[in-house]
Amino acid sequence: MSESATLVTAEHFRYIAQRTVQEDDFLKDLRRAAKAAGIPPIAISAEQGSFLQILLRLCRAREVIEVGTLAGYSALWMARALPPGGRVRTIEVEPRHAAFAREWAAKSDAAGKIEVHLGPGQTVLAGFAADSADAAFLDADKANYGLYLKESLRIVRPGGLVLVDNAFAFGQLFDKHPSDREAPAVQAFNEVMAREKALQSIIVPIGDGCWVGVKL
Ligand code: DHB
Ligand code: MG
Repeated sequence: MSESATLVTAEHFRYIAQRTVQEDDFLKDLRRAAKAAGIPPIAISAEQGSFLQILLRLCRAREVIEVGTLAGYSALWMARALPPGGRVRTIEVEPRHAAFAREWAAKSDAAGKIEVHLGPGQTVLAGFAADSADAAFLDADKANYGLYLKESLRIVRPGGLVLVDNAFAFGQLFDKHPSDREAPAVQAFNEVMAREKALQSIIVPIGDGCWVGVKL
């Protein structure tokens, strides 16, 4: 670590969160309803939602792809940062989750901007055209992150973004014997991402660590 770096603590993260856009009532209701419907209570934080919106606005994104819809919480954050006619194509393998996300997207203020594609990430991504997206957000099964990265590099245009969640492996990045069965896949993926020549990338310590890569 360079001497100019400050060791960021939980207090800093609270400080950041308190100075960031908060989730609105609709997003709160969506999370509550998802939990009540038995969908795993996993969602990005509001500060990560705001961060994604800032990145999408910076690259003037119109077309976003996402792998791992779950309840559609992050898709809605992202869709709200797109101009009229913009679209998030989000991929979900679990039919119950996809149905929930479709229902909530339809009654949101971003209705018409979110397309839920049901199927395995790899299969659905293969059907998306090259250079057809401005940004990709990967937030699904970690063992397939490498495959999703490869497809994203084909689908995202030069100058576009490849964003990947959970770079800190659920807080178990440095564990030799992590309890989470997906943590080793994240550890391995991080090395692949760091070496990927088609991207200039960095891990931003927001949420559980978010890779931000610009396609060169
Ligand atoms: C968990 C969190 C995530 O962001 C994710 O993509 C998968 C799992 C978790 O906390 O278990
Ligand atoms: Mg995640």
